[in-house]
Amino acid sequence: MHVTTYSSAARAASAAAALILGRLARQPSLVLGLPTGHTPIPLYRALARAHRAGRADFSRVTTFNLDEFAGLGAGDPGSYHTFMTTHLFSQVNLRPAHTHVLDGRAHDWRREIARYERLIERAGGIDVAVLGIGRNGHLGFNEPGDQLDARTHRVALRPGTRRANAVLFGNRWQDVPTHALSMGIGTILNARCAILLATGAAKARIVARALTGPITTRVPASLLQTHPDVIVVLDREAAAALQDRRV
Ligand code: GLP
Repeated sequence: MHVTTYSSAARAASAAAALILGRLARQPSLVLGLPTGHTPIPLYRALARAHRAGRADFSRVTTFNLDEFAGLGAGDPGSYHTFMTTHLFSQVNLRPAHTHVLDGRAHDWRREIARYERLIERAGGIDVAVLGIGRNGHLGFNEPGDQLDARTHRVALRPGTRRANAVLFGNRWQDVPTHALSMGIGTILNARCAILLATGAAKARIVARALTGPITTRVPASLLQTHPDVIVVLDREAAAALQDRRV
């Protein structure tokens, strides 16, 4: 695990963008796993800026988002699909047919999760999984528990997770769907490389637990410790609790 810390969230986001752009330059047909949330917004802005400046061509890139709310899909204001369209898909030259988001509106969610796993497989697997971290240590929507699902699955969201996502629903957490579809922890760990981006003081405690605590399903992000190629990009605030711990 390679941990890098920057003086501000903006710098951390630029560093994560630079890592992705470096990979893209070497491999134009990169397959990316992508997160939502507040944290990656400046990262997506940096990627869009690079594209506008002629420094990044996404025409051969394929993307797979980590998760989506059950019942929501493209065009729904609170959906992750709409979030991605706003912050990235409409800002760079990604081909619509190459951007994949789980369809939360799918009638048959079992079929949908199987379809998603097949698509990832057909794309040759994920080269770089870009990840955020929930305050309870979730990755995608892999919530803490006695056990985790290896593959893409349907999940019941914790109240805290619904509150953390309330901003997408006019700050009414009761309007946040109770369930979601999420890439499994095994699907995420199958990525050849993972970049974990975490910023802000609210993430300090969980970052320290995930990176230096025991590997446990109670902190899904701690499973990243088992992956051979993880780059952690933090701002000073998110790194604050790591100081006395070895990474
Ligand atoms: C959501 C997403 C996660 C994301 C997390 C953190 O729950 N499902 O993939 O990592 O939020 O979001 P934020 O960056 O807003 O703290």
